[in-house]
Amino acid sequence: MTSSPTDDSPDAARPLSPPPAVVLELIQQQRDSYLNRLFELLRIPSVSADPAFSQDVYRAAKWMATTFEGMGLKTQFLKTSTHPIVLAESPHVPDAPTVLVYGHFDVQPADPLDEWISPPYDPTIRDGNIYARGATDDKGQMLTHVFSTEAWLKSHGKLPLNLKFLIEGEEESGSVALAELMAGKYNDQLGCPVEEKLACDVVVISDSSQFGPGYPAITYGLRGIISFELTLFGPKQDLHSGTFGGAVANPVNALMRVMAAFQDDYGKVLIPGFYDDVQELSDTERQQWQALPFSDDDFMHQVGVPATFGEPGYSTIERCWSRPTMDINGISGGYQGEGGKTIVPAKASAKFTCRLVPRQDPNKIAAAVKQLVQVRVPQMFRYQLKVGHAAAGIVVPLDSPFMLAAADAIEVGFGKPPVLIRSGGSIPIVSQFKDRLGADTLLLGWGQNDDNTHSPNEKFSVEDFHRGIVSSAALWQALADHAARH
Ligand code: BES
Ligand code: ZN
Repeated sequence: MTSSPTDDSPDAARPLSPPPAVVLELIQQQRDSYLNRLFELLRIPSVSADPAFSQDVYRAAKWMATTFEGMGLKTQFLKTSTHPIVLAESPHVPDAPTVLVYGHFDVQPADPLDEWISPPYDPTIRDGNIYARGATDDKGQMLTHVFSTEAWLKSHGKLPLNLKFLIEGEEESGSVALAELMAGKYNDQLGCPVEEKLACDVVVISDSSQFGPGYPAITYGLRGIISFELTLFGPKQDLHSGTFGGAVANPVNALMRVMAAFQDDYGKVLIPGFYDDVQELSDTERQQWQALPFSDDDFMHQVGVPATFGEPGYSTIERCWSRPTMDINGISGGYQGEGGKTIVPAKASAKFTCRLVPRQDPNKIAAAVKQLVQVRVPQMFRYQLKVGHAAAGIVVPLDSPFMLAAADAIEVGFGKPPVLIRSGGSIPIVSQFKDRLGADTLLLGWGQNDDNTHSPNEKFSVEDFHRGIVSSAALWQALADHAARH
């Protein structure tokens, strides 16, 4: 870790004990079998956003439950108002810490399908990478903890700590059912209050990325998110733009103007009050980030753009990790087919999200967006603004003993100590783990930034998958050792 303890700290007695050799040997032996089992899960198109795939999300949940049962864990399959949630608990170890492992088996839609080199749900290995939708986000990363646990139990007979797995099927759609679970809605199915069921000392999540190849990382901050969909309704049906154009207001034209009011030419968000609660970076944090090996040229090359973009006065890393944003994720209206069609369309809509930073309150942002839309949409349009899922941004403390344990474990798996990073992505439920369970989260990402998450040709390196399993096996030992010391 970049900020390591001093020699007189209680942790000077490091290194901690590695996991038993039998565990690591079994993981080595099972490499191919782990890949095959990951492939089984990757073949299920568990897209949570699209109701057409809800049976597949269900199948993926069943796959998880069967896997946990096969490991001898006490498993619960929770039916919810949306997608199922799977819970599993390891046999109780007294006087040992309890870790909640969270992950998700749902995936983002795979389209545009024609841009995939191999089909999204037919996992294929090329150049040392597993290509499939969900390979890294999050099936591959999530299973590293499942397989490491299985290896402990099979080879050593028991775990050094208590594990609770909470694996959901709706993270990519805002964790709606999980939020209900956290609010107590499924206590009957659980058989006890959710706070008791999920009580833990720390949460572990692998659903983010390393800093880069050769730079394993611990992520100590995530952005939050709030999503919107704005629809403007114009004439009762599409009209000939020659006969009617100029005399009937065009909802697509109007939507463009409304959306243009959200951001200036440099990416600064113009929603009134948007930056009120945003904290500026500390000099220390800024300097630490500047010291990370990062090149704008490489970044531009990776994403295929001729220039970077964003608020003046901030570096690319600062823009991604510590500044809030507004992005239109999709816009529709009018004729989208081959050739042209001269119409005044009947309606237009835009899906957009704001990434939020810690201290920004999603409810306050939602109110400001509603107000801006109300002011900007011309009177003659009927409109609808849907506010979707929302989650606050988070930062986790760096000085917890859990961090030191995680750093040790990563060194076992990756052969290098981790760097400390924040990330621009969101994992909606994390802030609730803190608020409702009082637990901090360790975000240990095994993926890479160029793994094409949410894009065509998503991938996960076979080696990173394997290193993740080893790190996870080491983590159970390291967390148990640290708890014994403190
Ligand atoms: N794995 C990502 C979150 C992530 C991405 C963390 C990059 C760190 C770096 C997760 O599966 C995800 O995509 N979350 C969504 C949440 C949203 C749909 C509510 C996101 O960030 O868009
Ligand atoms: Zn994702």
